[in-house]
Amino acid sequence: MKLEGKVTVVTGAASGIGRGIARRFADEGAKVVCADIDEAGVQAVADEIGGIGVVTDVSVESDVQRLTKTAEESYGDIDLFFSNAGIGTSGGVEVPDEGWQRIWEINLVSHIYAARAVLPKMIERGHGYICSTASAAGLLTQIGSAPYAVTKHAAVALAEWIAVTHGDQGIRVSVLCPQAVRSKMTAGGGGVASVDGMLEPEDVAEAVVQAIEREQFLILPHPEVLTYMQRKTSDYDRWLRGMRRFQADWRSRQSSDN
Ligand SMILES: NC(=O)c1ccc[n+]([C@@H]2O[C@H](COP(=O)([O-])OP(=O)(O)OC[C@H]3O[C@@H](n4cnc5c(N)ncnc54)[C@H](O)[C@@H]3O)[C@@H](O)[C@H]2O)c1
Repeated sequence: MKLEGKVTVVTGAASGIGRGIARRFADEGAKVVCADIDEAGVQAVADEIGGIGVVTDVSVESDVQRLTKTAEESYGDIDLFFSNAGIGTSGGVEVPDEGWQRIWEINLVSHIYAARAVLPKMIERGHGYICSTASAAGLLTQIGSAPYAVTKHAAVALAEWIAVTHGDQGIRVSVLCPQAVRSKMTAGGGGVASVDGMLEPEDVAEAVVQAIEREQFLILPHPEVLTYMQRKTSDYDRWLRGMRRFQADWRSRQSSDN
């Protein structure tokens, strides 16, 4: 799909990857509605690109409905919804229930709310595009964060399901799965995800625009991720052994650095 003239919504648009995507969509000639929980940040980006800023908590369904209503009233039918907002956390199964619940609501349930808000009209019109930001962690794993790995896998699963179920009704779906990208989330360093290099949000936005033009499902700004996926699916146990070695090396490097 060409973005020129299209009505788009981008969540998490106040910073990082979402801001990069919002700016690039505007450069491509799209009408951009920016959404974020960060009021000052989202307004600044909207002003900069000549779009609209809507304060939205993506984990609250009424906020997401209000966002889509504002977009429709301002610009018309939504052509593309980019559900990008997300959070990180560290820890394993010991993370308290409230922590699991919060990241689940933001990294998965927000994508359900977005799809619920836009899919019926898109299906009725026979076309529409839904994008979401998961992570390479949603295809592989996240060393040091069970909640992140699990919720990002769930986000990939939802995107796949929508593509399979609604593809023949004209719905296009893409899922963005980067490793480390420079943003607030990686301000303290990209952690283990930065072994293949830290990309800039502009690099990610370029990969996104190219994939949308080709209507390609999987967006991998770090191409190495495809090789890792292939290794995982070709021999799961070998992949798990390799990841355990990788984790052990990473942990010992971390403790010798500290
Ligand atoms: N930076 C990376 O290395 C990396 C890698 C893979 C995937 N991701 C994913 O990319 C997406 C964007 O993250 P980023 O790296 O740009 O981080 P970021 O922290 O710079 O941006 C995230 C934005 O989402 C907003 N946000 C958080 N919770 C929200 C909520 N409940 N409602 C509305 N907005 C909310 C924040 O205010 C912020 O502006 C996330 O889904 C993240 O998991 C990031």
